[in-house]
Amino acid sequence: MKDFESIFPKIDDVPTEFRCKFPIIQNEYLLNGEIKKWQGEYSQVFSPIYIKNGSEYTNHIGSYPMMGETQAYEALDAAVEAYNNGNGEWPAMRVEDRINRIKKFVILMKEQRDEVINLLMWEIGKSHKDSAKEFDRTVEYINDTIDELKNIDRDASKFTISQGIIAQIRRAPLGVVLCMGPFNYPLNETFATLIPALIMGNTIIFKPPRFGVLLHYPLLKAFQEAFPKGVVNTVYGQGEQVITPLMKSGKINVLAFIGTSRVADILKTQHPKPHRLKSILGLEAKNPAIILEDADLDATVKECVLGALSYNGQRCTALKILFVHEKIADDFLNKLSNAVEELISGMPWDKDVDITPLPETGKTEYLSELIKDAEANGAKVINPRGGDFNKSFFFPAILYNVNEKMRVYHEEQFGPIIPVVKYKNIQEPLNYVIDSDFGQQASIFGKNTDQISELIDTLVNQVCRVNINSQCQRGPDNFPFTGRKDSAEGTLSTHDALRAFSIRTLCAAKENGKNKDIIRDILRNEKSDFLSTDFIL
Ligand code: G3H
Repeated sequence: MKDFESIFPKIDDVPTEFRCKFPIIQNEYLLNGEIKKWQGEYSQVFSPIYIKNGSEYTNHIGSYPMMGETQAYEALDAAVEAYNNGNGEWPAMRVEDRINRIKKFVILMKEQRDEVINLLMWEIGKSHKDSAKEFDRTVEYINDTIDELKNIDRDASKFTISQGIIAQIRRAPLGVVLCMGPFNYPLNETFATLIPALIMGNTIIFKPPRFGVLLHYPLLKAFQEAFPKGVVNTVYGQGEQVITPLMKSGKINVLAFIGTSRVADILKTQHPKPHRLKSILGLEAKNPAIILEDADLDATVKECVLGALSYNGQRCTALKILFVHEKIADDFLNKLSNAVEELISGMPWDKDVDITPLPETGKTEYLSELIKDAEANGAKVINPRGGDFNKSFFFPAILYNVNEKMRVYHEEQFGPIIPVVKYKNIQEPLNYVIDSDFGQQASIFGKNTDQISELIDTLVNQVCRVNINSQCQRGPDNFPFTGRKDSAEGTLSTHDALRAFSIRTLCAAKENGKNKDIIRDILRNEKSDFLSTDFIL
């Protein structure tokens, strides 16, 4: 604690460009194409960043509507009506026109760049560099999605003739999509499902994550201006009040949710006809690094620090447990401890900052409990300042030697703790992966290609991405991102997400003179939006 006693700034210490006019009272929401004034109760927003005022600290930065069942049903009605069984203006619109609307949204979104980045810093404590990266990556993701859709649509503009049947095969929307992103990437991961869902012609109900609500406020107008009424609707509040009624209505066609498998399971079973619900889920992970005895220690330490501690370890793809061969354990730990102690702690706007305050209420207490439990079972924090904390700030702790009796061996810490396990036999980390409830990614660090290939061949059937001498990560966004077991359902990437939020549907006819005349007439006179050889240029 001593080192971090004065980690939180006074208001005068905050650079002027990052000061917002707090509190921000979000008294509006988007419903059926209208920005409505909220008349009910509010949820309060507290920042992970405390501002020191004399001996007091404040962190209240705003509030947003605390909605209930009534507003949830209003949003649902608007989305159902806008979809209109697939005949609504949006689902029936030509792909090229939908693309133009998305392009308009991007222009309007970019106008809000600074404000969104600022709110990302204040609401979730993400560094300025990473907040800017999150915004820009999202814009790039949308532009790449547009290009992917053009390619998919160009391929679909032709006819197929097989076994005397002539057909045109396209992708069609699914209906009403409920989109809920996570707090750690509240903009990027929400839009990674919302945008593909939207561009494929679905209508949307969108609930921002628990932390990271206000940053979406500046974008409400962009949604309103870019899309027909009812195509995007927002809801805010407790899941039980707003999400449960939506799921129980049976009118949600797709659940796009990034969060815990516990919540995902509850939501899915609330739907009265589960087989009609398609789920695209990004869930927990406990990605291991397996460090072989011939690993290049400097390069491995660098990559493990990045993998375990980027955005304070609050990434689903973070390295959450390290298995190090006993022969190199001491050297590795020395280097790792030095590297962690060199990390820069501070506020999101501080130059080159690595470690920043954590947004989740009670998180530093939870992390301290994990450490206590590990210590009680024989582990030690090996870096001098490891586990020191002050309010929402927590300095990363390297825990060694971790074993299966400890909670941190099994639980996804989702924060700045690096559990290190010493192994002798390679089967030990492999058994960990096999027995784990999760199956997202793994990293192997080493040089021996015989051993690496053997590991690759085992691990690819346990997880969905094996990284060699590289941390785990989602990007680049055109790579498939998914997981096995309790880690995911469905696959996301700029290409795969378009498939996830649509279904293949075709129009077919027996190939005879009369049918050919009918098809020719429809095509020549551009009578159908679906049956068409229009090619997006
Ligand atoms: O929280 C999970 C994110 O999808 C991780 O994404 O690997 O790009 O940081 P990232």
